[in-house]
Amino acid sequence: MQFQAVYEEKKMSAAEMAARIPDASHIFSDIFLAQPKTLYEAINNRCLADSMRSCTITTYLDLYPLVCYTEPIRFAKNLQGTSVFCSALTRKAVGQGLADYLPNTYWDQPALIREYLDVDVFVVSVSPMDSHGYFSLGVTGSDSAEYLKKAKMILVEVNQQMPYCAEAPKVHVSEVTALCEADYALPVLPPAKLDAVSTTIGNLIAEQIPDGACLQLGIGSIPDAVGMALKSKRHLGIHTEMLTDSMIELIECGAADNSCKAIHPGKTIATFAYGSKRMYDYIDHNPSVAILPVDYVNNPYTIAQNDNVVSVNAALEIDLSGQVCAESIGNHMFSGSGGQLDYVRGALMSRGGLSFIAFPSTAKGGTISKIKPFLAPGAGVTTGRNEVDMIVTEYGIAKLRGRTFSQRAKALISIAHPNFRDELLFEARKMGLML
Ligand code: COA
Repeated sequence: MQFQAVYEEKKMSAAEMAARIPDASHIFSDIFLAQPKTLYEAINNRCLADSMRSCTITTYLDLYPLVCYTEPIRFAKNLQGTSVFCSALTRKAVGQGLADYLPNTYWDQPALIREYLDVDVFVVSVSPMDSHGYFSLGVTGSDSAEYLKKAKMILVEVNQQMPYCAEAPKVHVSEVTALCEADYALPVLPPAKLDAVSTTIGNLIAEQIPDGACLQLGIGSIPDAVGMALKSKRHLGIHTEMLTDSMIELIECGAADNSCKAIHPGKTIATFAYGSKRMYDYIDHNPSVAILPVDYVNNPYTIAQNDNVVSVNAALEIDLSGQVCAESIGNHMFSGSGGQLDYVRGALMSRGGLSFIAFPSTAKGGTISKIKPFLAPGAGVTTGRNEVDMIVTEYGIAKLRGRTFSQRAKALISIAHPNFRDELLFEARKMGLML
């Protein structure tokens, strides 16, 4: 009961909480559903009223609009945004140089927070308090534990509809500076559209995956198609960055049971979840799901403790030497590095591990080849050519690991769209890649 009294003492409106943020504060929030919608609205309102000055906010895969991204010039003196992974809401401001970007690989983010970032305020959405005074961080492990350690002020939105994850970071009511209550349905990720190309790619990869493999599937229609193509497998395990609906599907149809995992046998491990309401209901109070901090989950050494790790991620373009760009279109940030490299490295070190980077052979209605002689000027290399393993398009699989420049170029050209193969061959010859 004493926790309830502390809870009541700290309870206030979102507007009152936002009013506590001092000028010149550095504010931080965590990925996707950890973002507190009502508090974001209250922060926006303070900017609109010009009552918040010289603050910064660092965000990750934004789901709710913040004025520092939607109207960055108008609110520049109030709030400046920095993204660690762009979403549709932040991409434009970052691209125009009106918001900043912090390069990172996901597993290392907690170390960046610890060593480099001044965290004045951490804002987060949590599930309702349990009888011991703890709030579960719901469906997010990610960076939150580190922010909770470092922040001078912890502002919590308690969402009645946030699932309670039995094994996820928690924050105690005594540690919280202030809290507000909210009751809104969590946003859902629309199901990926599985067209003929993604289904072909999904089937090609599924053929390579043995029973008992331990899976990481990234975001997007290709990794989802792989998930859907694995329903006839047995004893799959899940140790992943993002928990996806296709993984829930695999668990519910009996293909995944986590029985072969060396670490966390019997448990599904992720660092965050974002998907359907069905997934949120699955996570709620489920002792077989653990959502843990990213510096543990995505640490390549953790990943590699499981055998037969299979990681599947997507990309925007690749050059003929095997450099993969999954984060920018030219020098314009499209998304971020996320944990792609973490899983490429983890799979590389896992006994029997495989890492696939898969994408349709073309973009923009077939007008652009995603396999290119060179990356576009300014493109960020997400997975370097020294660590890249398998590349997949709807035309097949190119094994790059252990292959020379000319072997790579030939393998990549063979899985490029036929309309672009001659051009790629011509460029490869000019570059001396066709030994
Ligand atoms: N040149 C120009 N535009 C391109 C392009 C290219 N080579 N490749 C794709 N595009 C465009 C597409 O046409 C599309 O444009 P639209 O939004 O106007 O339709 C857009 O870029 C996105 O492409 P798409 O293939 O639909 O992306 P996706 O949703 O499958 O996501 C990534 C692919 C690479 C962006 C995404 O997986 C990512 O951000 N990865 C980095 C992090 C990561 O891998 N994390 C791992 C675990 S979650």
